[in-house]
Amino acid sequence: MTIRRFKAERFRCLTSADVELASDYNVVYGDNASGKTSFLEALAYLGRGKSFRGAPTQALIQHGCKNFVLFGRVDKGGREIGVGVENGPDGLAARIDNESGGASDLAGALPLQIIDPDVHNLVAGGPEQRRRFIDWIAFHVEHGYVELWRQFRRALKQRNAGLRSPAMRHSLGAWDAEYVRLSKAVDAARRRTLESASDVLARQSENLLEGGISFEYSQGWASGLELEEALASSVERDIQHGSTQTGPHRADLKLRYDERQAKRLVSRGQQKLLACSMVLAATEVVQDALGQRVLLLLDDPAAELDRAALARLLDQSFGLGCQLVATSLEKNTLNFPQTPRRFHVEHGVISAVK
Ligand SMILES: Nc1ncnc2c1ncn2[C@@H]1O[C@H](COP(=O)(O)OP(=O)(O)OP(=O)(O)O)[C@@H](O)[C@H]1O
Ligand SMILES: [Mg+2]
Repeated sequence: MTIRRFKAERFRCLTSADVELASDYNVVYGDNASGKTSFLEALAYLGRGKSFRGAPTQALIQHGCKNFVLFGRVDKGGREIGVGVENGPDGLAARIDNESGGASDLAGALPLQIIDPDVHNLVAGGPEQRRRFIDWIAFHVEHGYVELWRQFRRALKQRNAGLRSPAMRHSLGAWDAEYVRLSKAVDAARRRTLESASDVLARQSENLLEGGISFEYSQGWASGLELEEALASSVERDIQHGSTQTGPHRADLKLRYDERQAKRLVSRGQQKLLACSMVLAATEVVQDALGQRVLLLLDDPAAELDRAALARLLDQSFGLGCQLVATSLEKNTLNFPQTPRRFHVEHGVISAVK
């Protein structure tokens, strides 16, 4: 996939942006608070139906306006499709190739990854981000994963409702069978995903960190126990919490650096590099599986990195052959293998530089 034309209206400080992106390298530069991150956030919203910064819709709509509208013309293996999103008082409305859809349809139409100054949280933050990391790959490489995940969420919700209601508790056993079946299917899909990504993960982290990293999947219940046994042993705890404490929604990806947990050991710059290597690996795996390009957004890639580390990150990113949109404060700080298309942004107005 390659996004050619991109329009954003009333999105944060971008009143009306309309650009033709290059299919390989793009740079958006401008002073602090000019609108660089807002521009990437708008692009990412088009491919996700939500903010990568976790911002609520109200914060994304330009102050004093009712809604925002985003539109992209996307080249999908030689065929151009329109992808549009609007959000306002009536909620999210998305159209993909003239059909209405939801967030997962957007993700299918415009696969993208982001490296921003908070990327180190993938290593240093809680397990949810690492589950999302695995699930993003699984979404693209495992056929039917979205539907499986939705079914699992439904079964989990039902079981949790049962735990909270004394009247419904007697039927827990009946729901457990379905919950266990779906949990195991999610778990198996994630394991296959990680298995298929493990070589690329190892290579990307080796290249960026110049040191070995190992990744260990933790399934969300005690290892060595069948999920049925884990559920049976935690039923009292589950009732106390009013929610299921064991299952794939509790999984994690444990990262090991020099045999010890990376998040305790590495510096923030190294955490960023490790997280970047994971993002690049995911991008590579998905590109290979889809046979299509992924859009890679690099927001202020220079942050936290010394010159050599930044050069390695950029080299690895370029090596993937993605469509790339990077931001920087200055016009020429990032060294591209060929001249990128440059855009200058000032007070929310973005213009191509001749
Ligand atoms: N909903 C909104 N409506 C109008 N303006 C907004 C809205 N949300 C944020 N802004 C403004 O958008 C401006 C640009 O923010 P943005 O984060 O895109 O800047 P940036 O160029 O990435 O800056 P930096 O170099 O510091 O990262 C800020 O001044 C911010 O106050
Ligand atoms: Mg910014």
